[in-house]
Amino acid sequence: MSKFHFVCRKCGHKIDGFKKWFASNQKCTNCNNNSVSTVYSTDKEKIKALISDNATPENLWHYFDFLPLNNKKNIVTDGEGIAPIERWDFLEEFAKQKYGLQLEVYVNRNDKSFATGTFKDKGGAVAASVLKENNVDQYVVASTGNTASAFAHYLAKAKISCSIFVPENALKDSEAHIGTYGQKLFRVKGDYAYAKKVAADYAKKYNILMTGGNLDPLRLEAKKTQVFEMLRIMGKIPDVYIQALSGGTGPFAVEKAFLDFEGTGLLEKMPRFLLSQGNRCAPMAHAWKKAKANNFPEGYEKDYPIYENPEVLIPTIATGNPGMYPLMAPLVRKTGGEIFQIKEELAVDLARLVAYERVIKIGPASAAGLLGFFESLKNGLIKDKETVFVNMGESANRALSFMQQTAYTTQNIGSADECERFDRKKYKEKVWEKFV
Ligand SMILES: Cc1ncc(COP(=O)(O)O)c(C=O)c1O
Ligand SMILES: [Zn+2]
Repeated sequence: MSKFHFVCRKCGHKIDGFKKWFASNQKCTNCNNNSVSTVYSTDKEKIKALISDNATPENLWHYFDFLPLNNKKNIVTDGEGIAPIERWDFLEEFAKQKYGLQLEVYVNRNDKSFATGTFKDKGGAVAASVLKENNVDQYVVASTGNTASAFAHYLAKAKISCSIFVPENALKDSEAHIGTYGQKLFRVKGDYAYAKKVAADYAKKYNILMTGGNLDPLRLEAKKTQVFEMLRIMGKIPDVYIQALSGGTGPFAVEKAFLDFEGTGLLEKMPRFLLSQGNRCAPMAHAWKKAKANNFPEGYEKDYPIYENPEVLIPTIATGNPGMYPLMAPLVRKTGGEIFQIKEELAVDLARLVAYERVIKIGPASAAGLLGFFESLKNGLIKDKETVFVNMGESANRALSFMQQTAYTTQNIGSADECERFDRKKYKEKVWEKFV
């Protein structure tokens, strides 16, 4: 029996692994649909040992039994996927002081992931390994920046040529990550939706395999391991899952972990998804607000705006054409969650606050996720005694110009006469000022 196979999400047709999936250009061989679910024949009980206290994982491949790779010799890794999940008491303290809520708040420190410091490293590692196993030596990726950087890194490690298409406004720092490895960057004159189109044209022109979008098994399977990590480190599934929402791979991947273990009693209730979008490009949040105001009428999930060339402060999460909304909205509803917007203008302030309290440098998309926590509290979306998990996506090494904006203590001087004695404590009030 093979380790895994795919099942078409539309017609239920079975597809025997990646060779067939890639050969059919990532379409169902029966109905041409482009999304499949990965099904494993692995004994599900095996997860218990992997998430036990005694487990000592070195990277995401600790969960090899539940990942779509056949032979361990094809593993490509850089220690991704086991970035620590930390309990952040300053957020707990804030929730208690301001809202009288007793919470447990955990934050996934993807910024510590070695390769590119984002939660996209997991997807990069699985993609590179699977492509290697299937003798694919060329690949095309369209991305706002973080997936691009991660794929560039891991595919280079696997000696696979990666052609990457980013929108015009993608951060310069992504370009540096990609170009350094000798992978090809095409900066497309246009927005993310247009970059995807040009990438698809290029892939077709040269007959090269291209990333399969937000439901690509390569990415979903990789990112679902964050749920295993919650169980291993926190010993439980949180009540609430917070993330910055762009295309939705992260939340879909959380759902996939639950689907894998459906009916086993091993993984039961999904957390409520509280998903934040930057206010300058928030099509899903806008669609959701409208649907909610109308009591989610029949077909509400097909009613969403498309924003072309959005002018944003956080390009990494700016998906103006939210093609995944018809699937994302019902999923969020099923969990009892919400999709809402946060103010992009606050990202720098939030990064300062986190840097002050935790002594870490976070990137703008991470700030969007964490702002989701503050916004959720403000809107009463988190209840007393709940456990909250924030999937904090990236470090600031991915966005150096953003990091430069977060510096706030500089004073230009000519002599010591102009210098007052310094006390770090005096900045506490300043970094909290926008949030209290
Ligand atoms: C740091 C970070 N957070 C969140 C997201 C949103 O990802 P998705 O909505 O696909 O899960 C991204 C996507 O690029 C990201 O890089
Ligand atoms: Zn099908």
